[in-house]
Amino acid sequence: METTLIILKPDAVQRNLMGRILTRFEEKGLQIVGCKLMRISPELAAEHYKDHASKPFYPGLVRFMTGNPVLTMAVRGIGAITICRAMMGATFGSKAAAGTIRGDFGVSNSYNLIHGSDSPEAATRELGLFFKAGDILEYSRVGDSYVYDSTGSKPE
Ligand code: RTP
Ligand code: MG
Repeated sequence: METTLIILKPDAVQRNLMGRILTRFEEKGLQIVGCKLMRISPELAAEHYKDHASKPFYPGLVRFMTGNPVLTMAVRGIGAITICRAMMGATFGSKAAAGTIRGDFGVSNSYNLIHGSDSPEAATRELGLFFKAGDILEYSRVGDSYVYDSTGSKPE
């Protein structure tokens, strides 16, 4: 099982899209194992986006991400990182394919609704920034036995 950090950005919260986006992950079969509405501090934004510090869009990105609350989620499943990135779509709303979250809900390149960790290393680092020990819960759901085929040697 993999766990990834998803952030519903301030535009998703302000446009009342939290429920519709979260529903897509639930409907896919992924499990929400952590969830928190929060305001990102400038310090946390700087740490989270440190790889982008030299980019021209960085000041605007930090202003956007710290300006209003976000919904952070820890999302779990087999291959969750890749699956979530595919569900999000291309970075720019203007380019994202129909059927993806960015493709269906936005047109902007900067206000692109959602963040998802892009590698296992990033997921571990980012989950550690946004969730404390105990904030991510282990639990099973009644439908789990039909989310994966677990009749073989490993879940498929
Ligand atoms: P994210 O990190 O938010 O999941 O998005 P991503 O991997 O698809 O894109 P990334 O290259 O990591 O860029 C991080 C965020 O910066 C904003 N951005 N704006 N205006 C621009 O040229 C530009 N380029 C990037 C977007 O909000 C992007 O999600
Ligand atoms: Mg990124």
